Amino acid sequence: MELSISETLKLQPWWVLLLSSCGVLITLNFTFSVIRWLDVVFLRRRRDLLRYGQWAVVTGSTDGIGKAISFELSRRGLSLVLVGRNSHKLDQVASSIKAENPKVQIKTVVLDLDGDLTEGVQRLREEISLLDVGLLLNNAGMTYDYGTFLHEDTELWWKKIVRVNLEGLTTVTSVVLPFMLSRKKGAIVNIGSGSSTVIPSHPLFSVYAATKAYVHQLSRNLHVEYKQIGIDVQCQIPLYVATKMVAFKKSSFFTPSPSNFARYSADRIGSEHQCMPYWPHNLQGFAVKLVPDFLLNKWRLSYGLSRRQKKSPS
Ligand SMILES: NC(=O)c1ccc[n+]([C@@H]2O[C@H](COP(=O)([O-])OP(=O)(O)OC[C@H]3O[C@@H](n4cnc5c(N)ncnc54)[C@H](OP(=O)(O)O)[C@@H]3O)[C@@H](O)[C@H]2O)c1
Repeated sequence: MELSISETLKLQPWWVLLLSSCGVLITLNFTFSVIRWLDVVFLRRRRDLLRYGQWAVVTGSTDGIGKAISFELSRRGLSLVLVGRNSHKLDQVASSIKAENPKVQIKTVVLDLDGDLTEGVQRLREEISLLDVGLLLNNAGMTYDYGTFLHEDTELWWKKIVRVNLEGLTTVTSVVLPFMLSRKKGAIVNIGSGSSTVIPSHPLFSVYAATKAYVHQLSRNLHVEYKQIGIDVQCQIPLYVATKMVAFKKSSFFTPSPSNFARYSADRIGSEHQCMPYWPHNLQGFAVKLVPDFLLNKWRLSYGLSRRQKKSPS
């Protein structure tokens, strides 16, 4: 005798039904996430960044990711306010961008985020007061040169990390925001890190990862506060990028060069409140989620200790 589907279901114990419903929901959820990811990463068209305004302010524009993004933004027609602590490096970056694109307008502002912010912030405010600033890229950041236990940090290096990554970023944001608010449009991109979102711990770089957790949460909160007024706040999360900050100096499929990363980063500006712009990093992030925390913690500790052996002066 053949049973209909509803009769078959009635004969199942309740827990079998519950488990199969959960299975269906999890599969649907996973499928939806994959489709959404494919759409965002591969199908959506490049956004026109000029719709936010003509000028972009980039902190930490003298090296690594910030320098590469400054080049990328200039190729997309934006004028640049390059912010950095070293006037010589700022001039060098400005002239190499101009050499590539003579028409681009560039202003430079010296602002040491680890120094007395008052004067530098005043310079930044004056410089942007008459500009149509549409984009702020909070990229400047620093970490320990090598793996360090907190109790060994007698030079209070951690305070510099907090000042640059946390206080500096918040201060610059609070200076630029009013100009965006007056035009009711803008985008703020804060560069976070996988060290506080993807992996469960980042031993021996603890303060750095903690400041990045702050950057993520601040970005989420500002996103909710300002979205309705027309300002997109986004946290972009890189994993490894081949810059002077990290041990990997050579680029590879999973460790892009700064310029390769910058292309993906510019494509994703304003697309969602948090994203990992370089798609192979998503694959790494997914793989990491499959590994138990205790194994990841062990691996990260041995990574921190190995960087300490390679770089420590003693
Ligand atoms: N590279 C990675 O794998 C990676 C991964 C995750 C997140 N990130 C994040 O990405 C951002 C850029 O890092 P990066 O890899 O491009 O590092 P980088 O090559 O070391 O560049 C850092 C930039 O920040 C500037 N900076 C540092 N201290 C400063 C201060 N006191 N005042 C003003 N500017 C200061 C540097 O200026 P100078 O040129 O004068 O040194 C440089 O322009 C950082 O926020 C970092 O945390 C990087």
